[in-house]
Amino acid sequence: MVMDVLSAADRQKIDGSDDALFYAEPRFVQHLDAAFRARLSELYRERIPQNAVVLDLMGSWVSHLPEDGTYAEVIGHGLNARELQANPRLSRHWVQNLNTDQHLPLADASVDAALVVAGWQYLQQPEAVAAELLRVVRPGGALIIAFSNRMFAQKAPRIWLEGSDRERLANVARVLIAQGWPRPELLAEATRSLGPLGWVGGKGDPFFAVIATGPQQVSPTASAASAPAAP
Ligand SMILES: C[S@@+](CC[C@H](N)C(=O)[O-])C[C@H]1O[C@@H](n2cnc3c(N)ncnc32)[C@H](O)[C@@H]1O
Repeated sequence: MVMDVLSAADRQKIDGSDDALFYAEPRFVQHLDAAFRARLSELYRERIPQNAVVLDLMGSWVSHLPEDGTYAEVIGHGLNARELQANPRLSRHWVQNLNTDQHLPLADASVDAALVVAGWQYLQQPEAVAAELLRVVRPGGALIIAFSNRMFAQKAPRIWLEGSDRERLANVARVLIAQGWPRPELLAEATRSLGPLGWVGGKGDPFFAVIATGPQQVSPTASAASAPAAP
């Protein structure tokens, strides 16, 4: 069951047209700067085990996985088929608008690590997506939702557009917890520009991440057996 957290007003966005139109043409650009991307790859190196089955949800032509990381499979999803076809890390991919259909075409507990980079900010039904991710990520698997402070403003729901960085972190966490994800870890970090600008204190894109671990499933029998007797 999906537990609503956002109000109807929270879900509204400036450009209410079909998101597929906005992403119809490929954008072969980096949406985040090199400092952010370096921090993200480092986080992936720490948190994603070798030979994992990885889901790159809301992806593009780049997955930001460490160059030398080896994975059993990297499954891609996004809104532009040409971007996904050009992504060398993907074993397979599919295209789906998550604002119209949140069901993920993946088996239960089939993913070791699910990643969302600069994408959560466009979800109008994040609760249903979080519930689906809870279904497809195996117990003990990882969900990493990373973002910075930029966005296509016309496509971001009001809760994201009007929130502060810290409110965005808290909102993502609230949505996850409401669907049954255990309390996630929150990261809010400054980054330093790579190269000479960084040497003199230049800053890169700020780095935010919400990291959750798939709960161990408790069988109904086990929980009934351990429950205290009714008075
Ligand atoms: C800023 S890009 C980030 C892409 C990629 N994760 C990266 O790091 O380069 C936002 C991505 O969110 C995805 N996206 C946006 N709206 C979406 C929607 N309604 N349904 C599914 N995916 C969506 C698209 O795949 C788009 O490429």
